Amino acid sequence: MKTEQGIALVDRDEKGVVRAFRDDVLQGLDQHQKAIPARWLYDDAGSQLFEDITDLPEYYPTRSETEILDARGKEFAELIGKGRAVVEFGSGSSVKTPLLLRAINPSAYVPLDISGEFLRESAATLAKKFPDVDVFPVEADFMREVQLPDEVADLPKLGFFPGSTIGNMVPRTAVDLLRSMRATLGAEEGGRPLLLIGMDLVKDQQVLEAAYNDSRGVTGEFNLNLARRINRELEGTIPVDALRHTAPWNDDFARIEMHLEALEDFDFEVAGKRFSMRKGETIHTENSHKFTRRSANTLLLAGGWTPQARWTDSGDRFSLILAEATEKRDAP
Ligand code: AVI
Repeated sequence: MKTEQGIALVDRDEKGVVRAFRDDVLQGLDQHQKAIPARWLYDDAGSQLFEDITDLPEYYPTRSETEILDARGKEFAELIGKGRAVVEFGSGSSVKTPLLLRAINPSAYVPLDISGEFLRESAATLAKKFPDVDVFPVEADFMREVQLPDEVADLPKLGFFPGSTIGNMVPRTAVDLLRSMRATLGAEEGGRPLLLIGMDLVKDQQVLEAAYNDSRGVTGEFNLNLARRINRELEGTIPVDALRHTAPWNDDFARIEMHLEALEDFDFEVAGKRFSMRKGETIHTENSHKFTRRSANTLLLAGGWTPQARWTDSGDRFSLILAEATEKRDAP
């Protein structure tokens, strides 16, 4: 469906419920270790809370990545070239996307996001800032291959996936996403697709844990908003006050894990189904994997992308990697 604001591709039922959200929640709450995919943290309220997180003194990733984007514009321009269509997986934030667009002078900008309102707002802001760049917002679940607007079909593409959102996926899902990105960015006619991707780095455990357990409790609100969203959108009766936010480092899997922990036993319903939690039991709501140079490269290669260049910030906390779609060949 083509609308004035863009293309709507999210599958909702007759009540307007996002089907994939309901299915993921019902399936996730039915597991021995309750778990819900992290992408559902981002309704409009969750997206706003995440924006607030990025300003927190303890949350270094946004500042570190912005520092790289700010400092390396010339190198991006040389390696990426002018006139590409920048396809951003997620709506562009007010700071990072303009830094990239200013550096590389693209012909078009295509933000993909499942959260329509946020998408349209940020697309409108960018369209005003960059009158020479055609902006085509697409409301879509970018975990699958997305059909891009016809207007950008013949342009060479640069995928942009900042923020280390790839770290919010387990490796199997991350590889699926990297492959879907390749499919979305399509054929190689105008030049082989490129991907500029942010990946947060393994570092001191205290620094990592502080970033996800901030003193103002904003990350806690972001986590608890998922329970509130379930109550709002899926006729849920979760007693949100009986949950608390936790975010420990899991060293075996090199990731911060966010959980909602039950402070007491309780029963609840979601979309007509009954569930219960025991005191101390958790719903696992997010993983935030951290990478080394090698683990980042291995993940990209598994997803069909060959790393070409890598930058880190002055504190060596965060990396941005430019990768090229790997040529399809069988050996070695
Ligand atoms: C979006 N993503 C990369 C953030 C992260 O750091 O994993 C989400 C987040 N969760 C808690 N704080 C920030």
